[in-house]
Amino acid sequence: MSSSWKNAKFDVVTMRWLAFVLAVSAATICCAADAPAGKPDEQAAATSEKEAARPRSPAAASEKGGKPSAAEIEKQKALQNPYPNDLGSGEIDALVKGYPKDFQEGYKLVNARCAQCHLPQRPLHSRFLEPYVGDEKVKDAAQRKKLKDAKIAEWKKSNPELFEDLTVWQAEGNIWERYVKRMMSKPGCKMTKDEARKIWLFLVYDSNQRKIGKSADSWKAHRKKLVEDFKKQYPERYEELEKQKDL
Ligand code: HEC
Repeated sequence: MSSSWKNAKFDVVTMRWLAFVLAVSAATICCAADAPAGKPDEQAAATSEKEAARPRSPAAASEKGGKPSAAEIEKQKALQNPYPNDLGSGEIDALVKGYPKDFQEGYKLVNARCAQCHLPQRPLHSRFLEPYVGDEKVKDAAQRKKLKDAKIAEWKKSNPELFEDLTVWQAEGNIWERYVKRMMSKPGCKMTKDEARKIWLFLVYDSNQRKIGKSADSWKAHRKKLVEDFKKQYPERYEELEKQKDL
């Protein structure tokens, strides 16, 4: 009997010891898994920063096991197919500061919304030219179209050079309206109707400030240089766009 008491006492000691060892090793494993280095908060912040810096490409999405979304495909398409416009400098801030307040708002929106899939340079250094007819005051679409068509007809007589080289100027009565709508209908485009209208107003006004009149010669030189540089940097894409008359 005494031996069983002894054994019982031994068992209690052993059990306590085992429990202690288990508890210590469990704690060690847990801590090691939670925080290998640094504070847990710092770790979390570092990870989310890395996530934010990682380009959100279709490849990255597929690595995670998901299919790239339609929006990601659209962005990839925009980035993989460059235009001469993309080589332009984004520095037109100083000029835009002199524009009426309403148009300055549109400029800010170009930099926010149109930069979602490609550089804001793509619209800012585009050859597109739509006549400005005090658009913000002309509410009636039919009336606006009439005024713009008349302006195009007038330019054809007074400034035939605007219609001679499509890589410098592509002048049409509603070209910015069409393109803003086209971009707006692309998958994943985050732009409200009101924002699109402000962007359109800016692009029309701006193209009449920087591309014609006193600025016509410098604009022509600027576009020629963009297309020339583009041809050197992207010879194949240049050929492709030239064939499509989309330089
Ligand atoms: C959802 C992605 C997306 C957004 C947002 C977007 N674009 Fe685009 N953009 C594209 C793609 C893709 C192309 C390539 C040509 C095409 O598909 O029309 C392009 C091409 C262009 C071109 C070149 C067209 C040419 O033939 O010379 C212009 C100009 C342009 N975008 C203007 C804009 C403007 C202005 C905005 C903002 C109102 C905008 N984009 C917003 C995806 C986008």
